[in-house]
Amino acid sequence: AKEQASIITIFGGSGDLARRKLYPALYQLYHRGVLADHFAVIGTARRPWSDEFYRDIIRESLQDEPNTDEETVASFASHFYYQSHDVTDADHYITLKNLSQKLDDQYEAKGNRLFYMAMAPRFFGTIASHIRSENLLSAKGYNRLIIEKPFGRDYDSAKELNDSIGAAFNEDQVYRIDHYLGKEMVQGLLALRFTNPLLTPIWNKDYISDVQITLAEKVGVEERAGYYETAGALRDMVQNHIMQLIAYVAMQQPTTFTPEEVHKSKNKLFAHLPVLTEEDAKRNWVRGQYLASASQKGYRQEDNVDENSNIETYVAGRIDLDDPRWTGVPFFVRTGKRLAKKATEIAINFKPLSHNIFDAVGSKEARVNRLTVYVEPEQGYTLTLNGKTIGADYDLRQDPLSFRYSQDVIDAAPEAYERLIRDALRGDQTNFTRWPEQEATWKYIDVVRKAWDDGADLAMYNSGSHGPAAADKLLERDGYSWAETF
Ligand code: BG6
Repeated sequence: AKEQASIITIFGGSGDLARRKLYPALYQLYHRGVLADHFAVIGTARRPWSDEFYRDIIRESLQDEPNTDEETVASFASHFYYQSHDVTDADHYITLKNLSQKLDDQYEAKGNRLFYMAMAPRFFGTIASHIRSENLLSAKGYNRLIIEKPFGRDYDSAKELNDSIGAAFNEDQVYRIDHYLGKEMVQGLLALRFTNPLLTPIWNKDYISDVQITLAEKVGVEERAGYYETAGALRDMVQNHIMQLIAYVAMQQPTTFTPEEVHKSKNKLFAHLPVLTEEDAKRNWVRGQYLASASQKGYRQEDNVDENSNIETYVAGRIDLDDPRWTGVPFFVRTGKRLAKKATEIAINFKPLSHNIFDAVGSKEARVNRLTVYVEPEQGYTLTLNGKTIGADYDLRQDPLSFRYSQDVIDAAPEAYERLIRDALRGDQTNFTRWPEQEATWKYIDVVRKAWDDGADLAMYNSGSHGPAAADKLLERDGYSWAETF
């Protein structure tokens, strides 16, 4: 791997995201040699910590990581520095700037600066404007910003956030993380679509009947009720992850595989998100919330959740793109917490042939072909085909052609954060989201939210179930049904 030189500043260095995701990801990059001698990490947060204490935190965060040995972990941790920091205090930015410069000289980091906002979004604007006013930007190398969701909670707040970041960084310096774009099979979907003559020419309304995207989770709200109570599944999963998956399923083939062309295709696709009316939204979107089971609390009984909360932990919806290529092809999406199992899957249902010559001989009917992409936890794909049963009669049967990556291969592959941080270090924006995507998806989501806020049913479902019956009815109404995915 090519070594990348950088001074990485993490705002929110004591936080949960940093410990659970970022330090392990940085470690794996170190293990693979993407980070080596010419980097340092400055962690900032309010509390006063010493470098030594901070390095202990780093070591702790690596406890369950593969590829660790004491020596490598120790040399990795020696690249970490802590700076206590009040995001509103201008002097603290001067201290940060001086520390960055000193570390840059010490590690020969070529003047490269990567800023990572791993804290509550209400501080992003303040941090960005100080980065500019106290001039933390380096004149010599690159300046890049990685920013995490939630990217606003509606269009207006997203725009405000974006404008405040824009005061310090240009669009081509901003790396908005959607960690689903760092998943192996999400990236792999593009390979399936754009390299197989078997699929590429038929990837449109003439041959595809409907698309189904399922992001089912087994876990509940966990410790995140404070955030979740202000968000709900629609903002938490649909505006970002599900919309990004739709883009990868439905966008036109980019002319080349470069960030510019990929984003051009995505922007075109998102421009085809329909302008929803509240009435459409009510008709085509279902929300639900999990109830208790024998062993688990219901959402309303979770810590820090309002006992009358109407926040949805489940969403199902039908999206009709306003795109001639997809006229009449519904995109059904669903996501929820506390469902029967974890399953992230994309199913493409193809249309039946208009005429089946075997009907005349009374054979069982041909079923539609389906391509399912298994994103997680299984990774791979399955294509169902019709064939003949063995025997004298002409009966049809459906057998799946299946491919799955082995668990060893999956375990050895870089995790989403590792890939995305590496991309940011290399300056590759392909798998990050750009502002026009945020803009379009928020505008769509806002209407659904509004329709619900004006009063819509909240369909209760049991923990450990397959979600509310209302989600099945949504499809049945239009003559479709969910693929049995989980
Ligand atoms: C996050 C959401 O973006 O994605 C969480 O905030 C959710 O609520 C998580 O649990 C799911 O991610 P993954 O990678 O486990 O499918």
